[in-house]
Amino acid sequence: MENRQIIITTINEQRYEIEGEKAFMPLGTFLREESNLTGTKIVCAEGDCGACTVLLARDIGVDGKLIFKSVNSCILPLYLIDGAQVVTVEGLKISDTELHPVQQSMVDCNGAQCGYCTPGFICAMAGMAEKLKIENKEITEKRAKNFLTGNLCRCTGYKPILEAALSIDLSNVQLLKDRFHNPDWLVEMKEIKGKPVNMNFSVKTIKQNIYLPISIDQAIKAKAADPELRLIGGSTDLGVVVNKGRMTTPKAMALYHIDELKKISHDQEFIVVGATATLSEFEDYIENFIPELKKMLHIFASPQIKNQATLVGNVVNGSPIADTIPFLMVSDSIVALQSVNGVREVLMSEFYLGYKKLDMKPDEIVVSVKIPRLKSHEQLRLYKVSMRKDLDISAVTFAGIIEVEQNIIKKARFCFGGVAATVIRLKDIESKIVGEDFTKSTFEAVALSLQQVISPLSDLRASKEYRMKLAQNFFLKFHNEISTGVVS
Ligand SMILES: Cc1cc2nc3c(=O)[nH]c(=O)nc-3n(C[C@H](O)[C@H](O)[C@H](O)COP(=O)(O)OP(=O)(O)OC[C@H]3O[C@@H](n4cnc5c(N)ncnc54)[C@H](O)[C@@H]3O)c2cc1C
Ligand code: FES
Ligand code: FES
Repeated sequence: MENRQIIITTINEQRYEIEGEKAFMPLGTFLREESNLTGTKIVCAEGDCGACTVLLARDIGVDGKLIFKSVNSCILPLYLIDGAQVVTVEGLKISDTELHPVQQSMVDCNGAQCGYCTPGFICAMAGMAEKLKIENKEITEKRAKNFLTGNLCRCTGYKPILEAALSIDLSNVQLLKDRFHNPDWLVEMKEIKGKPVNMNFSVKTIKQNIYLPISIDQAIKAKAADPELRLIGGSTDLGVVVNKGRMTTPKAMALYHIDELKKISHDQEFIVVGATATLSEFEDYIENFIPELKKMLHIFASPQIKNQATLVGNVVNGSPIADTIPFLMVSDSIVALQSVNGVREVLMSEFYLGYKKLDMKPDEIVVSVKIPRLKSHEQLRLYKVSMRKDLDISAVTFAGIIEVEQNIIKKARFCFGGVAATVIRLKDIESKIVGEDFTKSTFEAVALSLQQVISPLSDLRASKEYRMKLAQNFFLKFHNEISTGVVS
């Protein structure tokens, strides 16, 4: 099949064709330095402050219209927006004399002082308005705060910004999916996604490759031919490391043009999450299946990050404090890896061999994560403690699943993050506790025995003593919550 050598994208309805090395440039830099769209600001360049927020539509919904979501443009390389529509703060205004209701609300409520964070807040609010209006939900203080988790302001103070968010009248907001609905672009978008991108060029004699396959078969053949081809999900881990100058990704393969890898589905046994399904899609999907995990994802990063990041990226990044891994381990989830030799399935609890060392061969890609459906008699709890509640890295995480019958423990699975080089399953404790009474004293004994099982380290987030205390207290909290039914 013929390959394409350029990335095609639209920004505020203007079409751009991007060639060669420029395709590695973060969208935020491209907006400011190449497109004269300097409304978008770059402050932290690592996904933490939201100043660079823009709206991105990469997918088409069931109504045949684009789905717009807020993302951080500072960590989003241009090759991840092939066939997409971007709307920036400049594109939001209705006309030269009329602002978007979100922009007007910020003006009316004095939501800006130096104004540096303001375009980011406006785009995040526009993302909120889009989602809430589509879901027929009101803007409440809780929801507004949640949608603005990923935006920082150092001078206005959050009160007027929150007031601006709360005074948006959703009935006056014309949805972006309607405003930017262009049937010609949708036809072109389908054509764009129907042709793989394969860009090969050299920068200072170093060979570079950007590959966007349109089938799994193409992806695994490319990985077999060149194991150095680096898989890129949403680039929320890699984009930060690249921006900090700690690594480059001269050979990058992203799978978002492969329709089957975008899907999340379920049957009686499993929920299957495709490699490019984002964390926000996953969060919405599991709302009724795994409410406890939904609660955890609620405090995972920010909406912008979750609109971009994938579950698979969290799994493969393999951080000992990754927030989804403890759940995936206690639920006995399975990673599905594929290469030209076929599909191989590995239990999450056996996937991590050491710090960032995975049971994944150089020619394999992760195609999905399979999560067993919770049984009605299994009780799950997930805990995360970090320095602040939102948008922060965990100090310690805990996941526990237990099955109790007539006050006897029939099955137990426990997992900790942040206390070792990888997230760990406590298999010895699990087997010892089965058959014991489901009492406080059983869990006090388990908490005490942790001293022999884990040896956490001190770092800038927490001391080893604090981590140990947290881990012990999580066991007591776990017992207390399940025995009383009261969430503490
Ligand atoms: C501001 C900020 C806040 C964050 N908050 C949290 C948080 O609260 N909790 C948390 O756990 N994490 C957090 N993260 C980390 C990050 O967002 C997650 O780990 C995310 O899930 C990574 O997904 P991604 O798709 O962006 O991965 P990428 O950055 O694209 O990739 C991560 C790794 O996965 C590999 N990879 C991706 N797809 C595949 C595939 N199909 N096959 C094989 N390898 C693949 C890549 O090569 C890379 O090694 C945060 C990051 C930022 C910037
Ligand atoms: S510049 Fe701070 S999140 Fe992008
Ligand atoms: S208005 Fe100055 S940083 Fe927010």
